[in-house]
Amino acid sequence: MDAIALLREDHKLLRKLSKELAESTERAVETRKKLLKRLEAELTAHTTIEEELFYPAILDATDDVEDRRMVAEGIEEHRAADAKVIPDLHKTDPPTIEYTGHLKMLKDYLFHHPKEEEMFPKVRELIGRKELQELGEKMLARKKELMGEIA
Ligand SMILES: [Fe+2]
Ligand SMILES: [Fe+2]
Repeated sequence: MDAIALLREDHKLLRKLSKELAESTERAVETRKKLLKRLEAELTAHTTIEEELFYPAILDATDDVEDRRMVAEGIEEHRAADAKVIPDLHKTDPPTIEYTGHLKMLKDYLFHHPKEEEMFPKVRELIGRKELQELGEKMLARKKELMGEIA
């Protein structure tokens, strides 16, 4: 699987989990806890492989200021999720409407941010097919390692 296919698959799963969470009711406390734990593990591993491997590969491949700006914005959005969107959920009780509001923010983030990253046709121009394949393999191996540490 190449790097882009891997990221797309991760994005799809993250969107699905965030949608299920956002649609859950205040009564579904156990479901909320279980889904959030799963989503957090996936999101942490995903963001880490992007910052350790995918973004640096883009920066290596281009000096174009627009490309570099997109990477900088991506990293900034990761920080916003780490500093606010996820901590807000931990500070709030699952059976409350405040928690429901935070889940809506999480879903909005996961429907917005990956879309920005999926400037993939451009990445395919920057990074060759063989390199994308090798990058994907590295990312998958690192992701498995991270998921093992998180779980
Ligand atoms: Fe990301
Ligand atoms: Fe992503």
